[in-house]
Amino acid sequence: MKLHAFFVYGLGLFIAFISSAILVASGMGTMAWAKQVPVRSVIAPLPQHLRDTGLFVAGSTTEVQAQNLAFSPQYPLWSDGAAKRRWFYLPPGTSIDASKPDAWDFPAGTRLWKEFSFEGRRVETRLIERLADRSWRYSVYVWNEEGTDAVLAPKSGISALPVSVAPNGRYAVPSESDCRACHEGAAVPPLGLSVLQLSPDRDPLAVHADPVSLATNNLSSLAARGLIRKLPKDLLTNPPRIAASSPEERAALGYLHGNCGQCHNNNESEAGAAVPVGLLLAQKVGRSEPGSASSEQVLHTLINGPSRYRPPGTQGDAKVIVPGRSDLSVLVLRMKSRNPQMQMPPLGTEIPDAEGIALIERWINKL
Ligand code: HEC
Ligand code: HEC
Repeated sequence: MKLHAFFVYGLGLFIAFISSAILVASGMGTMAWAKQVPVRSVIAPLPQHLRDTGLFVAGSTTEVQAQNLAFSPQYPLWSDGAAKRRWFYLPPGTSIDASKPDAWDFPAGTRLWKEFSFEGRRVETRLIERLADRSWRYSVYVWNEEGTDAVLAPKSGISALPVSVAPNGRYAVPSESDCRACHEGAAVPPLGLSVLQLSPDRDPLAVHADPVSLATNNLSSLAARGLIRKLPKDLLTNPPRIAASSPEERAALGYLHGNCGQCHNNNESEAGAAVPVGLLLAQKVGRSEPGSASSEQVLHTLINGPSRYRPPGTQGDAKVIVPGRSDLSVLVLRMKSRNPQMQMPPLGTEIPDAEGIALIERWINKL
């Protein structure tokens, strides 16, 4: 158990103990006492088994509880070709406050799961929770070969889990600090349960996306059920879509948003972890002044944008994207590389995403 979790848990028990002692000593009623002292919640340690996290119906490791809603981001993250399923849970009577459309506020008790599998063999299921003190907690459960049980992985992850169906026969389970590197670089940790990712105006050219039939929980349906509140009305009547000069450009910018935008953004992140380079790859929807489309700002940093990184062996100034020349564009070179000093994204994959790269190259070569 992490020392911090132990401390919080231990402290909570201690406070509970002291408070009952005071209650007994003073003879005060519970209600009167509760009004004077802020409620402290006890944060339970992580369950050792996925089945105890509330994902499945009791006694099952396949049947998802009806209260957990499936969702499917239109621009998914590439993870070496793993198939993914995702669900979220909000405590009864709570909802997401979307008044800041690019930084949704999730209620305490929110849970989000993502399951990874290769050829039908489940490998891991990740969990993000918002705790009672509004902090975020990350964990991973690793499935056994038979698919009958998934057990909590160590915080340091597992660098090479043998999985015969995974590429190269092994699989890297990320560490908790890897989770935070991606999830806390964005404005708020949930990345796929967000405004552009859940737009009902789905991009037909998006790479690796689920079919529309699997994306029934979207902005409009969740708003209609009262699970998302205060989303600016124009985003419901006119669902978000990346402004672009061609369908290919829209899909390319969407790919970069989904796979890179969690780090390359100008958000004021809760954890303040955004990347220290000028390259902006995240799209925002919360702006409506003419000429200020988020995609224009992204394109401005991309096209002929100076790159601080110079690929080994190249001469002169490197550029993030050289129009018409994907072969000279640092963005593409870094996406293709799996040299740890150079590869982008820097973590979460062992093999480059051929389909994603092909889309980006087609787009750049037509610029
Ligand atoms: C390389 C960056 C990266 C790393 C590392 C990473 N994630 Fe994610 N994660 C994402 C992105 C991007 C999404 C949304 C897109 C998708 O699901 O395809 C996501 C989605 C999720 C979701 C679904 C909820 C959501 O945010 O949309 C969960 C749960 C999740 N990740 C948990 C974890 C945990 C736990 C870890 C660490 C063990 C982790 N992730 C590591 C990038 C990352
Ligand atoms: C986990 C966070 C993270 C993710 C995800 C990520 N990057 Fe990066 N990126 C960085 C950091 C940190 C740097 C600066 C250090 C360096 O150059 O390696 C960087 C630098 C770069 C640079 C060089 C910019 C310059 O001015 O030199 C490019 C190009 C780039 N990233 C492209 C991408 C692309 C394309 C993706 C998605 C396919 C991506 N990155 C995903 C963290 C990330």
